[in-house]
Amino acid sequence: MQKFIASLFVAAALMFSASAVFAASGASLFSSEGCIACHTINGKGGTVGPNLSHVGSQRNLSWIKTQIITPSAHFASGRMVTINGKSYIAIMPNHKDMPASQVNALAEYLESFK
Ligand code: HEC
Repeated sequence: MQKFIASLFVAAALMFSASAVFAASGASLFSSEGCIACHTINGKGGTVGPNLSHVGSQRNLSWIKTQIITPSAHFASGRMVTINGKSYIAIMPNHKDMPASQVNALAEYLESFK
């Protein structure tokens, strides 16, 4: 019985750490995939692309996923675009080879910024 209870604890601890890793991955992908070089969130990051600190109040989840995979579906590559009153040259790279799990984690992370 004691062993059984101990293994329950181990299982619970594993599930907890797995969900913690999942929750962190959108934020860590934002750095590791280079998004942060061009985009600012909460005062940190680049300014080549729009500030994403409130992107979730303007764009929905599926829109954000499309933007990550195929930005040219929204903004013609190389053109001047205006987003929230500021001008940018549409040079965001596509991420057609990014695994869906990473696209989802990034999109969910961004969509949470209201
Ligand atoms: C080389 C700079 C650059 C990199 C790297 C980059 N972006 Fe962008 N991003 C832009 C620019 C410029 C735009 C403006 C539209 C366009 O280029 O498609 C943009 C637009 C966006 C938008 C739309 C914002 C809005 O309010 O309409 C989202 C969301 C976004 N990027 C997310 C990401 C994510 C996530 C990554 C990393 C996987 C990333 N970007 C990597 C430059 C970049």
